[in-house]
Amino acid sequence: MVYKKVYLDNSATTKVAPEAAKEMQKAMSVIYGNPSSIHLFGDAAKALMENARESIAKEINAEPYEIIFTSGGTEADNLAIKGIVEASGKKHIITSKIEHPAVLESCKALEKKGCKITYIPVNRDGLVDPQKIEEAITDDTAIVTIMHANNEIGTIQPIEEIGKICSKFNVPFHTDTVQSFTKIPIDVKKMNLSAASLSAHKIHGPKGIGALYLRKGVKIAKQMHGGHHEYDKRAGTENVPGIVGFSAAATLPKKTEKIQKLRDYLIKELLKIPDAHLNGLKSNRLCNNVNVRFYGIEGESLLMHLSLAGIAVSTGSACSSQSLEPSHVLLALGLKHEEAHGSIRITLSRYTTKAEIDYALKHIRNAVAKLRKISPLVNSRLSRKK
Ligand SMILES: Cc1ncc(COP(=O)(O)O)c(C=O)c1O
Repeated sequence: MVYKKVYLDNSATTKVAPEAAKEMQKAMSVIYGNPSSIHLFGDAAKALMENARESIAKEINAEPYEIIFTSGGTEADNLAIKGIVEASGKKHIITSKIEHPAVLESCKALEKKGCKITYIPVNRDGLVDPQKIEEAITDDTAIVTIMHANNEIGTIQPIEEIGKICSKFNVPFHTDTVQSFTKIPIDVKKMNLSAASLSAHKIHGPKGIGALYLRKGVKIAKQMHGGHHEYDKRAGTENVPGIVGFSAAATLPKKTEKIQKLRDYLIKELLKIPDAHLNGLKSNRLCNNVNVRFYGIEGESLLMHLSLAGIAVSTGSACSSQSLEPSHVLLALGLKHEEAHGSIRITLSRYTTKAEIDYALKHIRNAVAKLRKISPLVNSRLSRKK
């Protein structure tokens, strides 16, 4: 019987903050004009939208006209990669092995059109070596795209260093900041970014809205054709309710320290379970991310046990949860297939409480003990020891 619900899958999506919902309600029922209309209803909607654009730009030290609203992080990644490559006329892309499918599949689509992709490996902690990026850059490199923080293991990449290298070689640098935005300070100027992808639903905003930061002067080929919206870089009537919800969520007071404290407590308690291992680094990871594996246990079985107790965690990214393949991110760290299959991701939010973490811990301990009793791996190890 489910008697409590604990949501610990905040890297998949988050609850909409009441502050965001309130702004959205206003944009749906009071200020509902089309921002492209030139009458008073349109003007009011445009004012709301431009205020939101300004607030979001400010959060990353960008200019408002450098923010292009999209339908989310996936579209922002597609627009940045396909758009910059197409506009450059060059054919080489540098990315990493642990990117989100929105990046990897965009690269694969371009590969089919004749582009060459260099996939930079990561070390056991999930870190990219900037030196390897420098070595991979050629005269034909159209873009370097390396994510800021990984969605599965939370590893934070040395973006400033990579930005410096790209700037030295005058190669556009795109980063996916979908998971890091509002959790790690982002300064597009200091980081030498040409483009950055953002999404609202990971930060307590609504689904179906995001943005691409595109530095002034960076050439991009439009991927969505139609009207002249968004500085003629992305056609389609803007999702004003989504945009104001996005802005309200992006400007909520930060809760990084509180979340990180709870995360550290959770990691400490989980690692007390025998043969439990943390995937990725303890430090240098997103404040809300825990990714652990327990010897001899299938992540899926653990997830189902927890779900029966009302607890939501995941075994990887939401986008690949339907696939039986082990996570490409965990394999890239050098984990064996069974280790990758034995991992779960627990992601916290600003609303997560200590009582919820204690409730989850109690059920994780019980489920691990139960599942190990019927684990062929654990049993064969025990019989070898006898
Ligand atoms: C790192 C990363 N990039 C891109 C996306 C896609 O964002 P959206 O769901 O807004 O399309 C996600 C979502 O899981 C993500 O974690």
